[in-house]
This record gives sequence, C-alpha cells and structure tokens, in this order.
Amino acid sequence: MTGSGLPAILLTGGTGQVGRALRESPPQGFELVAPPRTELDLADPDALERWVAARPWAAIVNAGAWTAVDAAESSAPEAWAANARGPAALAKASAAGDIPLVHLSTDYVFDGGSDRPYREDDPVGPVSVYGASKAAGELAVAALNPRHVILRTAWVFSPWGTNFVRTMLRLGETRETLSVVDDQQGCPTSALDIAAAVGAVCRRLAAPGPAPSGVFHFVNGGETTWFGLASRVFDRAATAGRKVPALTPIASSEWPTPVRRPANSRLDTARLTGTFGLAPRPWTEAADEVVDRLVRAGGTEGAGA
Ligand SMILES: NC(=O)c1ccc[n+]([C@@H]2O[C@H](COP(=O)([O-])OP(=O)(O)OC[C@H]3O[C@@H](n4cnc5c(N)ncnc54)[C@H](OP(=O)(O)O)[C@@H]3O)[C@@H](O)[C@H]2O)c1
Repeated sequence: MTGSGLPAILLTGGTGQVGRALRESPPQGFELVAPPRTELDLADPDALERWVAARPWAAIVNAGAWTAVDAAESSAPEAWAANARGPAALAKASAAGDIPLVHLSTDYVFDGGSDRPYREDDPVGPVSVYGASKAAGELAVAALNPRHVILRTAWVFSPWGTNFVRTMLRLGETRETLSVVDDQQGCPTSALDIAAAVGAVCRRLAAPGPAPSGVFHFVNGGETTWFGLASRVFDRAATAGRKVPALTPIASSEWPTPVRRPANSRLDTARLTGTFGLAPRPWTEAADEVVDRLVRAGGTEGAGA
C-alpha cells in the first residue's frame, strides 16, 4: 500500500506511447508511479534496484525501451543497455522482492518470413540490433523472474510521440500525393488498447493465488499493410472534413531503410484470449478513435511528446 491507500505499480517509459496511455488510464485499483528517465534509467542497474526496493510494488510494468529501429544499428550499446541489460536488472530485482513483472516486447524478434501469424512459441530470429536486443531482454526476463508476463505487440500508434498515424496526418496536411509501402503485413495496435490489456494483466498478477506467466501476443484484431492503414487514416480524416492526399501503394524495395522490415509482422493472440479472456477489438476501430482525437485536437495533441 502507498499514501493513496492503493497498491502501487512502478512504470518505466512513462513518457512513451504505451506509458502515456497508461498514465491517462491507470490500471483500476492501483496507484501508478512513473518516474522520469532522469530518475529511473534502464541503463542504470543501481537506480533500477533502488526503485524496485523502494516500495512493496504490486507489479512492475516495463514500457521503456530503445525503440528507434534504424538508429539502433549505429547505437548498439545503448539499445542493448535499455532493451536487454535493463530488463535483466529489473527482472532480477523484482524477483528478489517476489514482484510480478510485465515486460513489453515486439514483433521484431521474428524475421518476418512466416506465412501465417506468429505464435508465442515460434522460434525467434531477429534481423536487426533492435530485434536482437529485445529478444535478449525477453530471455533475461523469463530466466530471472518466474512471475513474468512478456507482452509482444506491433505497429503501435497513439495520439502521442512518433508513430505512423501521426506521421500520415502531418504529411497529409501539405502533400497532394503520398507513396506508402504495401507489401508488409501487420496488425496495427493502439497504445490505448495495450494499456488496457496491461491493466488487466496487472490485476490478474497481483490477485492472490496462482497466475499465468510466459509470453503473450497482444495486437488489435485483423491485419493490413502500411498502405491499408494509411488509407483508413485518411478515409476517417476526410469524414471530418480534412483535405487528404492521393495514396500510391509501393513495394518495400522502393522505400529503402537501414533495417529491413519483417514482411510478415502478424501476431496470433489466441493464447492471450484463452488465458486472460481479453479479446482485442479490430484495428480499424482503434485507428478511427486515435484519428478522431488527433483531428479534433487540430494537430496539437501529442505535440512535444
Ligand atoms: N512503437 C512500436 O511500434 C512498437 C512495436 C512493437 C513493440 N513495441 C514495444 O512496446 C514498448 C513501448 O513502446 P512505445 O512505442 O511506447 O515506445 P516509445 O514511445 O518510443 O517510448 C519509449 C519510452 O522508453 C523510454 N526510454 C528509452 N530509453 C530509456 C532508458 N534507457 N531508460 C528508461 N527509459 C527509457 C523513453 O523515455 P524518453 O521519453 O526519456 O526518451 C520513452 O518513455 C517497448 O517495449 C517497445 O519495444 C513498440
């Protein structure tokens, strides 16, 4: 218990997309404590240990990560510190206090070569520094704290920070035409929905009695391509009277990036639904909600995030 009388959850990455969504809608029945990175740095094992030992946390949620996929190629030590060594230190410290740890991870642990949605026990095969560092973080969390839930998600968008939906709306303000990659398959996922899932998982883990552990996939329902997501974003923005660009589908080869993106980023969520009873809503509904928020805010929501 804390000053508020509620059990407390410690959150890393409170300024990120998932972190902001959790701060906007904290798990019901808990106080959420989200220290800034200046106080709780995943690259600083001593700070992690101090924070974990500071209170009898009901759970710890690790939403902090180095997420700049291309930049990670030239900043491998920093990416590994945040994505692998930090989670390892968090897992070790939380296990010492018998505290459950919810750790966010990514579709980038896979190489994208599968022709069906990935299941949790499919072998990982990262093709980037980011993916390899996140895969190592997963392994460390699973090995060091038996009370863990690793939630892999993908294609995250929200009203805040850097994400595809915000980028499309920003570019759409000035461009007459836009070319968007149409040969990568994935499941766009709202950080608002991830936050709700994290809340439900925390409630289950903090309840008395045995609780599930392991890797679980959480993405919104359905699947599409980046072109499909862009089309939905602009269709929705147009209904609110926004001027929208003409879209052209292109191949990934026409949009080279330092890191090859997985052709298939789809994640199968059956294990999560079967275990936690959570049924993710369709990505279309989740995307409409975020577009509506951003259009209503006239581009001001999330500014500076
Ligand atoms: N974004 C996606 O499309 C995506 C897809 C799949 C999985 N995921 C996973 O989902 C989780 C949340 O992602 P997100 O999109 O919310 O991330 P995000 O918006 O990029 O935010 C990252 C957060 O991590 C913090 N952070 C970075 N380095 C840190 C460090 N050394 N110590 C402490 N905090 C640090 C950032 O703090 P500052 O604000 O101080 O930089 C920020 O709060 C991550 O585990 C990510 O790997 C994301």
